[in-house]
Amino acid sequence: MLSFSVDRQKCTRCGQCVQDCPVKIIAFDGNYPAIAAEREGSCFECQHCMAVCPTGAVSILGKNPAESASLAGNLPVPEKLETLIKGRRSVRQYKDENMKPEVIQRLLDVSCHAPTGVNFRQVLFTVVDDREIMADLRRETMAGLGRLLREGKLPPGREYFNDCVRAWEEEGIDTIYRGAPHLVVASAPRDCPTPEADCIIALAYFELFAQSLGVGTVWNGLARWTYTELLPELSVKLGIPENHRIGYVMAFGMPDVQYHRTVQRGPARVARVSWQKS
Ligand SMILES: Cc1cc2nc3c(=O)[nH]c(=O)nc-3n(C[C@H](O)[C@H](O)[C@H](O)COP(=O)(O)O)c2cc1C
Repeated sequence: MLSFSVDRQKCTRCGQCVQDCPVKIIAFDGNYPAIAAEREGSCFECQHCMAVCPTGAVSILGKNPAESASLAGNLPVPEKLETLIKGRRSVRQYKDENMKPEVIQRLLDVSCHAPTGVNFRQVLFTVVDDREIMADLRRETMAGLGRLLREGKLPPGREYFNDCVRAWEEEGIDTIYRGAPHLVVASAPRDCPTPEADCIIALAYFELFAQSLGVGTVWNGLARWTYTELLPELSVKLGIPENHRIGYVMAFGMPDVQYHRTVQRGPARVARVSWQKS
């Protein structure tokens, strides 16, 4: 049941909900927009009908449009967003302290607004929200990698892990998790249309929103390889569901470093299409 409803006091019959519906299941039923019962199954719950309604007349899935944030006057100006994007850095120095649970929760609740293929929204965020657990995970990761190294079982192409183990064992330096107090593993069921893309996009949103809150993040390819290729038992221990694919891993926490300016990259590598008419 979609619980699609239209407040007739507010609806101006502008037809924008009809026009914008990606699966074209909204139609005027007499004077007002409606979804025929037999077409409800085609809805993929994008909520565009509610978002596009200028007067807040449309409700779907039991959502109250008044509880949505209004966009007018509430968006960041492009220059600030540009600075956020250009000023985002991979943080590899962290304070050894737990973040407030409500900040972690907010990061996750915002990140789950990222787009997903066919609006599947099945990304699971497996979070290490306590630095003590992170310390155990770090120790077990390093011990497992050390074992693989000594048994000569590091696969070709993964020689970099030799240096990680050496740095940890000889100097106590963590080049896998970068000393972060927290970790998030984004995974999605293998049978989603786009499991990896969904996870990576969600973490990209997580990273940018984290940056705006003063929280540091670092993409963690080394941890992903560790869980998917080298020490799959850690994936089990983290509780990643068996039918899930790990899309990506991100370490995060309060930074112990401050950046004062953007880096300078670009120009973008661009290939422009000049179409030969056939
Ligand atoms: C997919 C991906 C995987 C990465 N994996 C790691 C990693 O395992 N460890 C690490 O320290 N940095 C990792 N990074 C961070 C990159 O090294 C970093 O983005 C790059 O050096 C540019 O620095 P910046 O993020 O500060 O702009 C990864 C980045 C991406 C996009």
